[in-house]
Amino acid sequence: MSKRKRKLAPKAPPSVPPVEAGLLSPVKLVPSNIKKPPYALTGDPGNSTSSLVRDADEIKRMEKAGEIAASVLLEAGSNVAPGVTTDKIDEMVHEMILSFDAYPSPLNYRGFPKSVCTSVNEVICHGIPDSRPLQEGDIVNIDVTVYHEGVHGDTSVTFPVGEISERDVHLIKETRKAMDLGIEAVKPGRPVNVIGRAIERHAKRHSLGVVREFIGHGVGTEFHSSLQIPHYYDPYASTEIIPGMTFTVEPMLTLGDPSAQMWSDNWTAVTRDGRRTAQFEHTILVLENGVKRLTVTSDGNAPSDLLNI
Ligand code: MF3
Ligand code: CO
Ligand code: CO
Repeated sequence: MSKRKRKLAPKAPPSVPPVEAGLLSPVKLVPSNIKKPPYALTGDPGNSTSSLVRDADEIKRMEKAGEIAASVLLEAGSNVAPGVTTDKIDEMVHEMILSFDAYPSPLNYRGFPKSVCTSVNEVICHGIPDSRPLQEGDIVNIDVTVYHEGVHGDTSVTFPVGEISERDVHLIKETRKAMDLGIEAVKPGRPVNVIGRAIERHAKRHSLGVVREFIGHGVGTEFHSSLQIPHYYDPYASTEIIPGMTFTVEPMLTLGDPSAQMWSDNWTAVTRDGRRTAQFEHTILVLENGVKRLTVTSDGNAPSDLLNI
């Protein structure tokens, strides 16, 4: 053995130039005939009180909400292109959701000012749509949540903007795979930490980091219920998976260190090291013998399955 230090694998450079906040357009209104979640007026969802499992009627409604969220996300993704502002994506998503007689769940949730989250490059999640035009080579996560007939459906995909680097293709592909493996690990009787274990194993194999500050959550009559789904292995996440549970699996993987930092807008979470990050999300229902993805279109497709990458 020589004494020379072994060379480290080349690190992903910070995303250059860094994403900067743009300008926000005026707050959008929702017609009074559309049924709003309790926080829509005050911004305060209050403490979670809902059960961890859904009854048959709630499940039927969640299938519909999931289907709406998936078709909105699919259409939003087809509009991703260089020059399109994230504000334009917000406008399209807002109008589409209203056309389904549904409410865009992010709007005024804890004061969030827009109808969808758009997270570009080193933005991990909760990016606020603004006047920044997407640029060739960017990657953008679009996170759509809709509230329809009293229940939410929550789903996201990271899309390439035009041609992207090999490294970013790798990041997007393996993040989607990590989500799929996390979902496949779901079985009644197991603790919820099997999900994070599967995701983390896949990320490690592919030299990617797993964000710890943001986790999956119970979703149903509430946008975020008390059920917590970490995307890393947490031995203490011992809640047993039971049929009828509905929750999200939404891993955020990173090219570099997964530590997060918050912008002064108190929403936009970015990687501390400025390296890029991707995320995928489904809302799922636990069945007696496995799992069903609720955020799919009526033909059973998910926007992430159709992503051409
Ligand atoms: N859709 C996000 C999630 O997956 C939550 C967004 S909260 C908002 O949990 F207020 F930023 F919209
Ligand atoms: Co979610
Ligand atoms: Co979401």
